[in-house]
Amino acid sequence: MNRINGKAHGKVILIGEHAVVYGHPAIALPLLSAEVSVTINRSPTMCIDCVYHQGELNDAPSAIDNIRACIEASLIKLNKQNETFELVISSSIPQERGMGSSAAVANACVKAIFDFFNQPLSEDDRFELVQVSETLAHGTPSGLDAKTTNSLLPLYFIKDKVIEPFSMVMEGYIIVGDTGEKGQTRMAVSSLRKRKEKNPAVVNELMNQIGEYSEQARLCLQNNLIDQLGDLMDKTHQNLMLLGVSNQILNRLVNVARQSGAKGAKMTGGGWGGCMIALAKTHQQAHQIANALKRNGAAQTWILELG
Ligand code: MEV
Repeated sequence: MNRINGKAHGKVILIGEHAVVYGHPAIALPLLSAEVSVTINRSPTMCIDCVYHQGELNDAPSAIDNIRACIEASLIKLNKQNETFELVISSSIPQERGMGSSAAVANACVKAIFDFFNQPLSEDDRFELVQVSETLAHGTPSGLDAKTTNSLLPLYFIKDKVIEPFSMVMEGYIIVGDTGEKGQTRMAVSSLRKRKEKNPAVVNELMNQIGEYSEQARLCLQNNLIDQLGDLMDKTHQNLMLLGVSNQILNRLVNVARQSGAKGAKMTGGGWGGCMIALAKTHQQAHQIANALKRNGAAQTWILELG
């Protein structure tokens, strides 16, 4: 029996979601404490074992069409279309919460498949194969999730142009709060596209501002400017609300975090459910905020040390 691992992790977008789809800069952080691992076993038929399905890949529900397509594209790339195996996927990243679960699963699958066949995987091929999955899952993915779920460093990212890992010197903590509601990235992205077609001037201006906030946020992270970073997070959330991609439960948890002493707070990822993030100076404050979020309905929280 041949068991091979492919791994990837979650991500949080600090600033720049949605605007990044239209070429504005964004900053995303790897969330290493939420992880996907894939093992591959030899099998006479193509099988998958994941939360959505255990059994023949052909019988899997449409919820994993993206992963199926990514597996098929990987096999075509390797010229191994007639090979069969079982992929066992285990993940601690909650699905459909804007934490990069779909991209992380695709990343781990692609890496595991190439490993199984002892083939080197170039960065370009990895990205292209993960984007096969992301395109089915989200429609028009910027590529930020595909990159960040495979990066150990924060990324400054401009779609199709810049992918710049950078180091932070920030003393602070990001608290991630899961609303417990599925996010709806695909729907939120497509509703924003319609809004942009109807009202380009307003939408473009709000997105330009988000892009500027991303630029400033990178400087904050590199110069330990926590108050300014919190302020940028608050302003970005305001813009995302005006763009119509937040919702009541996200806004409520953002307010809970602010009232519990957060330096700033915002939704993160696709929106319409999913997760929010908050910024705290100390570990103790981060815990207080996480506890307040849980008392107010957050299904789960994570604390991520910056710096
Ligand atoms: C989803 O995690 C982030 C969005 O900006 C979409 C994308 O970048 O493809 C909403």
